[in-house]
Amino acid sequence: MKIFIDSAKLDEIEHAYSSGIIDGVTTNPSLIKKAVEDLKKKGQEIDMRQYIESILRTAKGTPVSIEVTEYNYQGMVEQGKSLFRMFNPIANNVCIKIPVNTSFEAEHGREFEGIRAVKTLSAAGIPVNCTLIFTPEQALLAAKAGASFVSPFAGRIDDSIRKESGVIFSKSDYFPAEGIRNGKGMLDDNGIVSGIDLVRQIADIFRKQGIKSEVLAASLRNARQVREAALAGAHIATLPVDVIKELLSNRKTQEGMKSFTADIIPEYADLAKER
Ligand code: G3P
Repeated sequence: MKIFIDSAKLDEIEHAYSSGIIDGVTTNPSLIKKAVEDLKKKGQEIDMRQYIESILRTAKGTPVSIEVTEYNYQGMVEQGKSLFRMFNPIANNVCIKIPVNTSFEAEHGREFEGIRAVKTLSAAGIPVNCTLIFTPEQALLAAKAGASFVSPFAGRIDDSIRKESGVIFSKSDYFPAEGIRNGKGMLDDNGIVSGIDLVRQIADIFRKQGIKSEVLAASLRNARQVREAALAGAHIATLPVDVIKELLSNRKTQEGMKSFTADIIPEYADLAKER
């Protein structure tokens, strides 16, 4: 499974890439807002174009998802093409992020705008990451429209199930992949018992249907969920930098480090210094 960093903060992206194991970057308008607010707090002015170029250069050789801000078909296609034209020459790694359905409410009637934009941009050879996926059906249609990546938001499914059942939780709390029960039985979101269950169902469908789009598990908030996303068959997990660090952290590793370091004898340390 590939690991992407889910951030628009250049310092975090650079830090994550210094590990040598990062396979891509995902951004969205909220992450861009956070990054810019952070810089402004530090008194730094930001040139958005140069800033995105720096992210693309840092991620050279791996895809960077940039989301559109328009929500009508024509606007998304024009903006997607123009972002691709503007930024892809920098490091040849731009992927355009399009919401699967851009309606805010059912009566907006924009159900097909996102999927049409995915189809048009993909057909024009522009890699598309189809985002805000909350059902396997949405994932199926995104793939059918040609999306290179489909992004199920696992954590937000868990949030919604927890909210419905009145569970008090914080964002990074583990939510069991197999779901939770109340007095009446298993809680679910239209047949999905957890965010990881959503990832698993999409991965199963893609495998059974011979679909080539990659399942990009997003909105993952802790290491155990990342393990479960891998077990569920996700091709990619996109993670905040702290969750990437958490993947490497374990108290027993720290204890082992302390005791091994305390046991280093000079003869052995000196040997290791020889060139
Ligand atoms: O990549 C999607 C992600 O940024 C949303 O994460 O934790 O806000 O649900 P979250």
